[in-house]
Amino acid sequence: MFRLTPNDVRVRVHEDHVEIRSRVQEVRDALRDASSASPPRWGPALSLCDAVERHMEFEDAELVPLLSAADAWGSVRAGSVAANHRVQGSIIIALREDIRAGVRSTAELVDEIRWFLGALERDLESEEDVVFADDAFGEEAVVSEQIDG
Ligand SMILES: [Fe+2]
Repeated sequence: MFRLTPNDVRVRVHEDHVEIRSRVQEVRDALRDASSASPPRWGPALSLCDAVERHMEFEDAELVPLLSAADAWGSVRAGSVAANHRVQGSIIIALREDIRAGVRSTAELVDEIRWFLGALERDLESEEDVVFADDAFGEEAVVSEQIDG
């Protein structure tokens, strides 16, 4: 079966994280631009939810197995990424429902989204500490391309 190399996975994770951070900024802009007269555009937040779900699907399929196979601690790192994804996935489902249901007040929704953005950014950072560590995929994995950022 075709599998991506560790370097392919790192490049893709990096590209996805860049895209997600740019979408996080779009969501912040949409929330900031809102006023009492015009509620925020929720579209950027919904698009971010979709993008994070797609990204987590990729990581569950390609990153988690690579981490698991790396070394004695690999299964622990893989388990931690997978557990974070389950939490993030539940939050996204709840957030999407709250946005679409229109039951919560604008202020409550804005607070909820801002909290989600902060949690998401912390998760991206802690995941990068794992994925871009030299020994993330074991000693045999050779990274041939420098990734910045
Ligand atoms: Fe990620």
